[in-house]
Amino acid sequence: LGNGLAKTPQMGWNSWNFFGCNINEKVIKETADALISTGLAKLGYNYVNIDDCWSEPSRDSEGQLIPDPKTFPSGIKALADYVHSEGLKLGIYSDAGAFTCQKRPGSLQHEYDDAVLFASWVCSFFFFYGSLFSLHLCWNCFPLFLYDFLGGIEGLVHILILFFVIQGVDYLKYDNCFNLGIDPEERYPPMRDAINATGRTIFYSLCEWGVNDPALWAGKIGNSWRTTNDINDSWASMTEIVDINDKWAAYAGPGGWNDPDMLEVGNGGMTYQEYRAHFSIWALMKSPLLIGCDVRNMSAETFEILSNEEVIAVNQDHLGVQGRKIFAYGPDGCYQIWAGPLSGQRLVVALWNRCSKTATITAKWPSLGLESSISVSVRDLWKHEFVSQNSKSSFSARVDAHACEMYIFTPTMETHSAT
Ligand code: DGJ
Repeated sequence: LGNGLAKTPQMGWNSWNFFGCNINEKVIKETADALISTGLAKLGYNYVNIDDCWSEPSRDSEGQLIPDPKTFPSGIKALADYVHSEGLKLGIYSDAGAFTCQKRPGSLQHEYDDAVLFASWVCSFFFFYGSLFSLHLCWNCFPLFLYDFLGGIEGLVHILILFFVIQGVDYLKYDNCFNLGIDPEERYPPMRDAINATGRTIFYSLCEWGVNDPALWAGKIGNSWRTTNDINDSWASMTEIVDINDKWAAYAGPGGWNDPDMLEVGNGGMTYQEYRAHFSIWALMKSPLLIGCDVRNMSAETFEILSNEEVIAVNQDHLGVQGRKIFAYGPDGCYQIWAGPLSGQRLVVALWNRCSKTATITAKWPSLGLESSISVSVRDLWKHEFVSQNSKSSFSARVDAHACEMYIFTPTMETHSAT
Protein backbone atom coordinates (compact mmCIF):
# COMPACT_ATOMS: atom_id res chain seq x y z
CA LEU A 1 0.00 0.00 0.00
CA GLY A 2 1.50 3.31 -1.02
CA ASN A 3 0.89 5.14 2.26
CA GLY A 4 4.58 5.64 2.96
CA LEU A 5 4.66 3.02 5.72
CA ALA A 6 6.14 -0.48 5.88
CA LYS A 7 9.34 0.34 4.02
CA THR A 8 10.62 -2.55 6.12
CA PRO A 9 8.50 -5.14 7.98
CA GLN A 10 6.71 -3.87 11.06
CA MET A 11 8.20 -4.58 14.49
CA GLY A 12 6.52 -4.46 17.85
CA TRP A 13 4.41 -6.47 20.24
CA ASN A 14 0.86 -7.85 20.10
CA SER A 15 -1.26 -9.04 23.01
CA TRP A 16 -2.92 -12.09 21.42
CA ASN A 17 -0.43 -14.98 21.47
CA PHE A 18 0.24 -14.78 25.20
CA PHE A 19 -2.70 -12.95 26.75
CA GLY A 20 -5.64 -13.83 24.49
CA CYS A 21 -8.63 -12.04 25.99
CA ASN A 22 -6.95 -11.47 29.38
CA ILE A 23 -5.88 -7.96 28.53
CA ASN A 24 -6.29 -4.70 30.36
CA GLU A 25 -4.75 -1.26 30.38
CA LYS A 26 -2.24 -2.19 33.08
CA VAL A 27 -0.82 -5.00 30.93
CA ILE A 28 -0.56 -2.71 27.92
CA LYS A 29 1.15 0.07 29.88
CA GLU A 30 3.55 -2.31 31.62
CA THR A 31 4.37 -3.87 28.26
CA ALA A 32 5.17 -0.46 26.82
CA ASP A 33 7.36 0.23 29.86
CA ALA A 34 9.12 -3.12 29.44
CA LEU A 35 9.80 -2.51 25.75
CA ILE A 36 11.59 0.66 26.82
CA SER A 37 13.39 -0.66 29.92
CA THR A 38 14.67 -3.82 28.22
CA GLY A 39 15.96 -1.85 25.24
CA LEU A 40 13.72 -3.74 22.79
CA ALA A 41 12.08 -0.49 21.66
CA LYS A 42 15.48 0.90 20.68
CA LEU A 43 16.04 -2.17 18.55
CA GLY A 44 12.92 -1.30 16.55
CA TYR A 45 10.03 -2.93 18.43
CA ASN A 46 7.87 0.18 18.37
CA TYR A 47 4.29 -0.87 17.84
CA VAL A 48 2.30 -1.80 20.95
CA ASN A 49 -0.69 -3.59 19.47
CA ILE A 50 -3.87 -4.38 21.34
CA ASP A 51 -5.65 -7.39 19.84
CA ASP A 52 -9.19 -8.71 20.27
CA CYS A 53 -11.30 -8.15 23.43
CA TRP A 54 -10.62 -4.50 24.13
CA SER A 55 -14.17 -3.41 23.43
CA GLU A 56 -17.61 -3.87 24.96
CA PRO A 57 -19.82 -6.57 23.40
CA SER A 58 -22.08 -3.91 21.85
CA ARG A 59 -21.80 -0.44 20.40
CA ASP A 60 -23.26 2.56 22.26
CA SER A 61 -26.56 4.20 21.32
CA GLU A 62 -24.77 6.29 18.69
CA GLY A 63 -23.21 3.25 17.17
CA GLN A 64 -19.70 3.88 18.51
CA LEU A 65 -17.35 1.21 19.76
CA ILE A 66 -16.70 1.49 23.50
CA PRO A 67 -13.64 0.23 25.35
CA ASP A 68 -14.54 -2.37 28.00
CA PRO A 69 -14.95 -0.25 31.17
CA LYS A 70 -13.77 -3.07 33.43
CA THR A 71 -10.48 -3.68 31.66
CA PHE A 72 -9.85 -0.31 30.00
CA PRO A 73 -11.54 2.10 32.47
CA SER A 74 -9.38 5.04 31.35
CA GLY A 75 -10.25 4.47 27.70
CA ILE A 76 -8.02 3.89 24.70
CA LYS A 77 -7.32 7.60 24.31
CA ALA A 78 -5.53 7.69 27.66
CA LEU A 79 -3.61 4.58 26.74
CA ALA A 80 -2.60 6.09 23.42
CA ASP A 81 -1.38 9.18 25.28
CA TYR A 82 0.69 6.99 27.57
CA VAL A 83 2.21 4.90 24.77
CA HIS A 84 2.95 7.99 22.68
CA SER A 85 4.56 9.72 25.64
CA GLU A 86 7.09 6.89 25.67
CA GLY A 87 7.82 7.43 21.99
CA LEU A 88 6.02 4.23 20.99
CA LYS A 89 3.08 3.67 18.65
CA LEU A 90 -0.30 2.23 19.47
CA GLY A 91 -2.09 -0.43 17.46
CA ILE A 92 -5.73 -1.38 17.70
CA TYR A 93 -7.76 -4.27 16.36
CA SER A 94 -11.07 -4.71 14.60
CA ASP A 95 -12.71 -7.08 12.18
CA ALA A 96 -13.94 -6.96 8.59
CA GLY A 97 -17.10 -8.73 9.67
CA ALA A 98 -20.14 -8.36 11.87
CA PHE A 99 -18.17 -9.41 14.97
CA THR A 100 -14.59 -9.98 15.98
CA CYS A 101 -13.55 -13.58 16.56
CA GLN A 102 -14.30 -13.12 20.28
CA LYS A 103 -17.75 -11.68 19.55
CA ARG A 104 -17.04 -7.99 20.02
CA PRO A 105 -18.61 -5.68 17.42
CA GLY A 106 -16.93 -5.80 14.02
CA SER A 107 -16.41 -2.88 11.66
CA LEU A 108 -18.16 -4.18 8.56
CA GLN A 109 -20.46 -1.35 7.41
CA HIS A 110 -19.09 0.88 10.19
CA GLU A 111 -15.75 1.48 8.50
CA TYR A 112 -15.90 5.28 8.37
CA ASP A 113 -17.14 5.78 11.94
CA ASP A 114 -14.61 3.36 13.34
CA ALA A 115 -11.68 4.71 11.32
CA VAL A 116 -12.49 8.24 12.55
CA LEU A 117 -12.66 6.95 16.12
CA PHE A 118 -9.32 5.14 15.83
CA ALA A 119 -7.62 8.12 14.22
CA SER A 120 -9.04 10.54 16.74
CA TRP A 121 -7.92 8.98 19.99
CA VAL A 122 -5.59 11.13 22.07
CA CYS A 123 -6.43 14.62 20.98
CA SER A 124 -8.10 15.09 17.72
CA PHE A 125 -10.71 17.18 16.11
CA PHE A 126 -10.86 18.12 12.51
CA PHE A 127 -11.54 15.62 9.83
CA PHE A 128 -11.85 16.44 6.23
CA TYR A 129 -14.61 14.68 4.34
CA GLY A 130 -14.52 15.91 0.78
CA SER A 131 -15.22 19.59 1.21
CA LEU A 132 -16.81 19.30 4.65
CA PHE A 133 -15.14 19.74 8.00
CA SER A 134 -16.51 18.06 11.02
CA LEU A 135 -15.41 19.07 14.45
CA HIS A 136 -14.75 16.49 17.14
CA LEU A 137 -13.99 18.32 20.31
CA CYS A 138 -11.93 17.11 23.15
CA TRP A 139 -11.34 19.38 26.10
CA ASN A 140 -7.61 18.97 26.41
CA CYS A 141 -7.45 20.49 22.96
CA PHE A 142 -9.52 23.51 23.94
CA PRO A 143 -7.00 26.09 22.63
CA LEU A 144 -7.32 24.75 19.13
CA PHE A 145 -11.06 24.66 19.44
CA LEU A 146 -10.96 28.38 20.35
CA TYR A 147 -8.64 29.07 17.50
CA ASP A 148 -11.11 27.51 15.12
CA PHE A 149 -13.84 29.87 16.25
CA LEU A 150 -11.81 33.04 16.69
CA GLY A 151 -9.26 32.77 13.97
CA GLY A 152 -11.61 32.24 11.12
CA ILE A 153 -8.91 30.75 8.97
CA GLU A 154 -10.48 27.77 7.38
CA GLY A 155 -9.48 24.96 5.13
CA LEU A 156 -5.77 24.70 4.71
CA VAL A 157 -4.99 25.70 8.28
CA HIS A 158 -7.23 22.96 9.59
CA ILE A 159 -5.51 20.42 7.45
CA LEU A 160 -2.12 21.59 8.71
CA ILE A 161 -3.30 21.38 12.30
CA LEU A 162 -4.65 17.97 11.62
CA PHE A 163 -1.36 16.92 10.11
CA PHE A 164 0.71 18.05 13.07
CA VAL A 165 -1.54 17.47 16.03
CA ILE A 166 -3.67 14.41 15.55
CA GLN A 167 -2.18 11.46 17.30
CA GLY A 168 -4.63 8.61 17.29
CA VAL A 169 -3.75 5.02 16.70
CA ASP A 170 -0.93 4.14 14.37
CA TYR A 171 -1.80 0.62 13.38
CA LEU A 172 -4.93 -1.37 12.65
CA LYS A 173 -5.05 -5.16 12.58
CA TYR A 174 -8.21 -6.10 10.73
CA ASP A 175 -9.48 -9.65 11.31
CA ASN A 176 -11.76 -11.88 9.26
CA CYS A 177 -14.39 -13.45 11.56
CA PHE A 178 -18.18 -13.37 11.00
CA ASN A 179 -17.59 -12.08 7.50
CA LEU A 180 -21.07 -13.04 6.20
CA GLY A 181 -19.44 -14.91 3.34
CA ILE A 182 -18.52 -11.67 1.58
CA ASP A 183 -15.35 -11.81 -0.50
CA PRO A 184 -12.34 -10.36 1.36
CA GLU A 185 -11.46 -8.32 -1.69
CA GLU A 186 -14.74 -6.48 -1.10
CA ARG A 187 -14.48 -6.18 2.69
CA TYR A 188 -10.90 -4.96 3.12
CA PRO A 189 -10.77 -1.92 0.76
CA PRO A 190 -13.54 0.07 2.52
CA MET A 191 -11.49 0.27 5.72
CA ARG A 192 -8.41 1.34 3.73
CA ASP A 193 -10.50 4.12 2.18
CA ALA A 194 -11.97 5.08 5.55
CA ILE A 195 -8.50 5.31 7.09
CA ASN A 196 -7.30 7.44 4.18
CA ALA A 197 -10.26 9.76 4.64
CA THR A 198 -9.23 10.51 8.23
CA GLY A 199 -6.00 12.06 6.98
CA ARG A 200 -3.99 10.01 9.48
CA THR A 201 -1.45 7.54 8.22
CA ILE A 202 -2.19 4.22 9.84
CA PHE A 203 -0.40 0.94 9.23
CA TYR A 204 -3.08 -1.35 7.79
CA SER A 205 -2.51 -5.00 8.64
CA LEU A 206 -4.87 -7.41 6.90
CA CYS A 207 -5.64 -10.50 8.93
CA GLU A 208 -7.63 -12.47 6.36
CA TRP A 209 -5.85 -15.75 7.30
CA GLY A 210 -4.54 -16.37 3.80
CA VAL A 211 -8.07 -16.65 2.37
CA ASN A 212 -8.17 -16.17 -1.43
CA ASP A 213 -4.37 -16.02 -1.80
CA PRO A 214 -4.03 -12.44 -0.51
CA ALA A 215 -0.49 -11.99 -1.83
CA LEU A 216 -2.13 -11.78 -5.26
CA TRP A 217 -4.41 -8.87 -4.42
CA ALA A 218 -3.64 -7.33 -1.02
CA GLY A 219 -0.62 -5.24 -2.03
CA LYS A 220 -2.90 -2.39 -3.11
CA ILE A 221 -5.00 -2.62 0.03
CA GLY A 222 -2.76 -3.15 3.03
CA ASN A 223 0.77 -2.91 4.39
CA SER A 224 0.83 -6.62 5.25
CA TRP A 225 -1.46 -9.58 4.74
CA ARG A 226 -1.68 -12.86 6.57
CA THR A 227 -0.64 -15.74 4.34
CA THR A 228 -1.76 -18.49 6.72
CA ASN A 229 -4.10 -19.53 9.45
CA ASP A 230 -3.18 -18.83 13.08
CA ILE A 231 0.19 -19.94 14.39
CA ASN A 232 0.32 -21.91 17.63
CA ASP A 233 3.26 -22.37 19.95
CA SER A 234 4.59 -25.61 18.45
CA TRP A 235 7.29 -26.79 16.07
CA ALA A 236 4.65 -28.41 13.81
CA SER A 237 2.64 -25.21 13.44
CA MET A 238 5.67 -22.99 12.98
CA THR A 239 7.23 -25.16 10.24
CA GLU A 240 3.93 -25.63 8.42
CA ILE A 241 3.39 -21.89 8.33
CA VAL A 242 6.91 -21.22 7.09
CA ASP A 243 6.38 -23.49 4.10
CA ILE A 244 3.08 -21.83 3.18
CA ASN A 245 4.51 -18.34 3.51
CA ASP A 246 7.49 -19.28 1.35
CA LYS A 247 5.23 -19.76 -1.68
CA TRP A 248 4.37 -16.09 -1.76
CA ALA A 249 7.88 -14.66 -1.51
CA ALA A 250 7.76 -12.94 -4.88
CA TYR A 251 4.89 -10.69 -3.75
CA ALA A 252 6.57 -9.12 -0.70
CA GLY A 253 8.51 -5.89 -0.78
CA PRO A 254 8.73 -2.38 0.65
CA GLY A 255 5.19 -1.16 1.32
CA GLY A 256 3.61 -4.60 1.68
CA TRP A 257 4.75 -7.81 3.40
CA ASN A 258 3.64 -11.40 3.65
CA ASP A 259 2.59 -12.04 7.24
CA PRO A 260 2.99 -15.62 8.53
CA ASP A 261 1.57 -14.49 11.91
CA MET A 262 3.13 -13.26 15.12
CA LEU A 263 6.09 -14.65 17.02
CA GLU A 264 5.68 -17.35 19.65
CA VAL A 265 9.26 -16.96 20.93
CA GLY A 266 9.19 -17.11 24.73
CA ASN A 267 5.78 -18.73 25.16
CA GLY A 268 7.12 -22.13 26.26
CA GLY A 269 5.98 -24.57 23.58
CA MET A 270 9.26 -24.85 21.66
CA THR A 271 12.89 -25.43 22.60
CA TYR A 272 15.55 -22.74 22.60
CA GLN A 273 16.86 -23.98 19.23
CA GLU A 274 13.37 -24.11 17.76
CA TYR A 275 12.63 -20.56 18.86
CA ARG A 276 15.94 -19.42 17.42
CA ALA A 277 14.99 -21.09 14.13
CA HIS A 278 11.54 -19.45 14.29
CA PHE A 279 13.08 -16.01 14.76
CA SER A 280 15.82 -16.56 12.16
CA ILE A 281 13.43 -17.67 9.45
CA TRP A 282 10.89 -14.92 10.23
CA ALA A 283 13.71 -12.40 9.85
CA LEU A 284 14.97 -13.96 6.63
CA MET A 285 11.43 -14.10 5.17
CA LYS A 286 10.99 -10.39 5.86
CA SER A 287 8.03 -11.22 8.07
CA PRO A 288 6.60 -8.80 10.62
CA LEU A 289 8.50 -9.19 13.90
CA LEU A 290 5.66 -8.85 16.37
CA ILE A 291 6.63 -10.26 19.74
CA GLY A 292 3.90 -12.47 21.19
CA CYS A 293 5.18 -13.23 24.69
CA ASP A 294 4.98 -11.44 28.03
CA VAL A 295 7.91 -9.04 27.70
CA ARG A 296 7.55 -8.09 31.36
CA ASN A 297 8.80 -11.54 32.35
CA MET A 298 11.15 -12.75 29.65
CA SER A 299 13.83 -15.35 30.29
CA ALA A 300 17.41 -14.48 29.38
CA GLU A 301 17.18 -16.90 26.44
CA THR A 302 14.03 -15.29 25.11
CA PHE A 303 15.60 -11.87 25.37
CA GLU A 304 18.78 -13.08 23.69
CA ILE A 305 16.75 -14.31 20.71
CA LEU A 306 14.47 -11.30 20.34
CA SER A 307 17.29 -8.80 20.77
CA ASN A 308 19.73 -10.26 18.25
CA GLU A 309 20.59 -7.07 16.39
CA GLU A 310 22.29 -8.84 13.53
CA VAL A 311 19.24 -10.98 12.82
CA ILE A 312 16.94 -7.97 13.16
CA ALA A 313 19.14 -6.10 10.66
CA VAL A 314 18.51 -8.88 8.13
CA ASN A 315 14.77 -8.40 8.57
CA GLN A 316 15.04 -4.63 8.30
CA ASP A 317 17.48 -4.56 5.38
CA HIS A 318 16.31 -1.83 3.01
CA LEU A 319 16.57 -4.00 -0.09
CA GLY A 320 13.42 -5.70 1.22
CA VAL A 321 13.62 -9.01 -0.63
CA GLN A 322 12.00 -12.01 1.05
CA GLY A 323 14.49 -14.87 1.43
CA ARG A 324 13.41 -18.34 0.28
CA LYS A 325 14.02 -22.02 0.71
CA ILE A 326 16.48 -22.56 -2.09
CA PHE A 327 17.55 -26.14 -1.57
CA ALA A 328 16.51 -29.12 0.51
CA TYR A 329 18.00 -32.58 0.70
CA GLY A 330 18.32 -35.51 3.11
CA PRO A 331 15.40 -37.45 4.61
CA ASP A 332 12.17 -35.78 3.48
CA GLY A 333 14.23 -32.76 2.47
CA CYS A 334 14.85 -31.86 6.07
CA TYR A 335 18.35 -30.43 5.55
CA GLN A 336 17.42 -27.05 4.22
CA ILE A 337 19.21 -24.02 2.83
CA TRP A 338 17.32 -20.75 2.97
CA ALA A 339 18.77 -17.59 1.47
CA GLY A 340 18.06 -14.20 0.04
CA PRO A 341 19.82 -11.09 -1.20
CA LEU A 342 20.67 -8.20 1.11
CA SER A 343 21.85 -4.71 0.29
CA GLY A 344 25.53 -4.28 -0.56
CA GLN A 345 25.82 -7.46 -2.63
CA ARG A 346 25.48 -9.54 0.52
CA LEU A 347 23.47 -12.71 1.03
CA VAL A 348 21.74 -14.03 4.10
CA VAL A 349 22.07 -17.80 4.29
CA ALA A 350 20.42 -20.09 6.83
CA LEU A 351 21.28 -23.75 7.29
CA TRP A 352 18.22 -25.27 8.92
CA ASN A 353 18.14 -28.83 10.18
CA ARG A 354 14.52 -29.90 10.32
CA CYS A 355 15.55 -33.54 11.00
CA SER A 356 15.65 -34.96 14.51
CA LYS A 357 19.43 -35.65 14.60
CA THR A 358 22.46 -33.37 14.36
CA ALA A 359 23.82 -33.21 10.82
CA THR A 360 26.31 -31.40 8.63
CA ILE A 361 24.54 -29.19 6.11
CA THR A 362 26.31 -27.85 3.04
CA ALA A 363 25.37 -24.89 0.90
CA LYS A 364 26.95 -24.99 -2.54
CA TRP A 365 27.55 -21.79 -4.45
CA PRO A 366 25.50 -22.63 -7.57
CA SER A 367 22.39 -23.21 -5.45
CA LEU A 368 22.94 -19.78 -3.92
CA GLY A 369 23.26 -18.24 -7.36
CA LEU A 370 26.97 -17.54 -6.81
CA GLU A 371 29.68 -18.15 -9.38
CA SER A 372 31.99 -20.97 -8.23
CA SER A 373 34.95 -18.60 -8.43
CA ILE A 374 33.50 -16.21 -5.85
CA SER A 375 35.08 -16.09 -2.44
CA VAL A 376 33.04 -14.89 0.52
CA SER A 377 33.48 -13.97 4.15
CA VAL A 378 30.98 -15.72 6.40
CA ARG A 379 29.64 -14.06 9.50
CA ASP A 380 27.70 -16.17 11.99
CA LEU A 381 24.76 -14.08 13.22
CA TRP A 382 24.22 -16.15 16.36
CA LYS A 383 27.88 -16.48 17.37
CA HIS A 384 28.45 -12.84 16.37
CA GLU A 385 31.77 -13.63 14.72
CA PHE A 386 33.31 -14.29 11.34
CA VAL A 387 33.65 -18.04 10.92
CA SER A 388 35.42 -17.83 7.58
CA GLN A 389 37.18 -15.04 5.69
CA ASN A 390 37.59 -16.82 2.44
CA SER A 391 35.06 -19.54 1.65
CA LYS A 392 34.99 -20.85 -1.87
CA SER A 393 32.47 -22.99 -3.74
CA SER A 394 30.64 -24.28 -0.63
CA PHE A 395 30.10 -23.76 3.07
CA SER A 396 29.23 -26.44 5.62
CA ALA A 397 28.30 -26.45 9.29
CA ARG A 398 27.22 -28.94 11.93
CA VAL A 399 23.65 -28.07 12.81
CA ASP A 400 21.80 -29.52 15.82
CA ALA A 401 18.38 -31.08 15.43
CA HIS A 402 15.80 -28.37 14.66
CA ALA A 403 18.46 -25.66 14.90
CA CYS A 404 18.97 -23.00 12.27
CA GLU A 405 22.38 -21.41 11.82
CA MET A 406 22.30 -18.06 10.13
CA TYR A 407 25.05 -16.25 8.23
CA ILE A 408 25.80 -13.27 6.09
CA PHE A 409 27.94 -13.99 3.07
CA THR A 410 29.90 -11.01 1.74
CA PRO A 411 31.88 -11.46 -1.47
CA THR A 412 35.54 -10.71 -0.82
CA MET A 413 37.36 -11.25 -4.12
CA GLU A 414 37.11 -13.27 -7.26
CA THR A 415 39.68 -15.97 -7.84
CA HIS A 416 40.63 -16.88 -11.37
CA SER A 417 41.39 -20.34 -12.53
CA ALA A 418 44.88 -20.99 -13.98
CA THR A 419 43.59 -21.65 -17.47
C1 DGJ B 1 -7.76 -14.56 14.67
C2 DGJ B 1 -6.43 -13.94 14.35
O1 DGJ B 1 -5.81 -14.65 13.32
C3 DGJ B 1 -5.58 -13.93 15.62
O2 DGJ B 1 -4.31 -13.42 15.31
C4 DGJ B 1 -6.26 -13.12 16.67
O3 DGJ B 1 -6.35 -11.78 16.27
C5 DGJ B 1 -7.64 -13.68 16.95
N1 DGJ B 1 -8.41 -13.82 15.74
C6 DGJ B 1 -8.40 -12.80 17.92
O4 DGJ B 1 -9.67 -13.24 18.13
